[in-house]
Amino acid sequence: MSEILNTRDSFGSKFGVIAATAGSAIGLGNIWRFPYVVGENGGGAFLIIYLAFVLAIGLPVMLSEFIIGRSSQRNAFGAFKVLAPGKPWYLVGVMGVVAAFMILSFYTAVAGWTLEYIYQSFANGFAGKSSAELSSMFTDFRSESWRPLLWFFVFMAMTALVIIAGVKNGIEKYTKILMPVLLVILVVLCIRSVTLEGATGGLEFLFKPDFSKITARTVLEALGQAFFSLSIGMGTLITYSSYVSKKETLGSISFSVAVADTMIAILAGVAIFPAVFAFGIEPGSGEGLVYITLPNIFQQMAGGYVFSLLFFLLLGVAALTSTISVLEVIVAYFVEELKLSRKKATWLATGSVSVVGIMCTLSWGAMKNVELFGMNVFSLLDFISANILLPLGGLLIVVFVGWFLGRNKAKAELSNEGRLKVVYFPAFMMIVKFIAPIAIALVFLQQIGLIRL
Ligand code: TRP
Repeated sequence: MSEILNTRDSFGSKFGVIAATAGSAIGLGNIWRFPYVVGENGGGAFLIIYLAFVLAIGLPVMLSEFIIGRSSQRNAFGAFKVLAPGKPWYLVGVMGVVAAFMILSFYTAVAGWTLEYIYQSFANGFAGKSSAELSSMFTDFRSESWRPLLWFFVFMAMTALVIIAGVKNGIEKYTKILMPVLLVILVVLCIRSVTLEGATGGLEFLFKPDFSKITARTVLEALGQAFFSLSIGMGTLITYSSYVSKKETLGSISFSVAVADTMIAILAGVAIFPAVFAFGIEPGSGEGLVYITLPNIFQQMAGGYVFSLLFFLLLGVAALTSTISVLEVIVAYFVEELKLSRKKATWLATGSVSVVGIMCTLSWGAMKNVELFGMNVFSLLDFISANILLPLGGLLIVVFVGWFLGRNKAKAELSNEGRLKVVYFPAFMMIVKFIAPIAIALVFLQQIGLIRL
């Protein structure tokens, strides 16, 4: 064991930890998924429920993962083996690795679209197109075979190359530079969007709650989105925190990451909805929202060519800092449990994810008739992972920390063995023992139809 501890890679600085973890959290989930899920679920009221879930449940689940990861210094599966030897808790880790496979395959498909849009921005491909033309440009592209597949593989390969370079020289090095730049660009886009004529409708849609739009499904979607956006519930943060130094303060890191993640999601909403309304596009237009609406804005604004290029470049980068965090879950597992070299583990993981990824990529084209429960492969994996596996994983993680690991070990980890004051500890314990498990369970039972709220 000591040998593994000594040879394990780790993050080099606090900023590196925050950049990497925020890099994982901030991704397509914020800039692509959040706006369209808000759009489909009626706007402002969804946002309020979402914020409540982030604070009351997301943050404590995040901290729980940090406790598990940093105290065990292992991958998502090994962590449970170390902390609960001989007990079946490692199955939570297994579920996490399975969820990582699913998420990575559909996520990288969308990340690949980003590369197509970088290319189109570069080639000035949006210029002079009407919103209807931009819309069919997107739907036509996504129902093709070769181009989406090409971009999918390019994206997988980039992810793999960063992972092979390691934690400090790969993950940390790239996220430290790219995250601040993303923020700057997004703020610029927000300013442009809210100054468009007819923009206020979008702000109202986002910030003025209409509670009549709330259904049980909305609540479930809000929880799923919170888990997805914060990268919690499947061991990504267990894996990342296992590389965090014992000197860092887990409480402040998780708070910074949750705030940054939420802020970026809201900013993405502010960049998108005012423009959606200004151009008379339906806010509930689903997965195409970012890929149709934004080109429309860019081709109208001064300097749009540059902004378009920058935006899709940075969307790709945001996606990359997230795909690497998901791939790292699988690779850390392969390296530590199957004793593969990092390089072998990476290519093995990348290869197997690609098999499912191909099906996701072709979900609107060659494989559009393959449906289960009325969903194509892509939507099915998205739904199962974000709305079922992540909340279930989160439930088991908080129950593990609240009821199995126990208050002394949790407190020791959060207080760095008693050196720090953790004023929030009683509230944290209360949430992980009772509130979070009950809330997550209720949303579930409702979902499978056992109760009606
Ligand atoms: N949070 C990322 C996003 O919003 C996606 C992501 C990365 C993720 N790692 C994860 C989602 C782990 C769930 C679990 O884009």
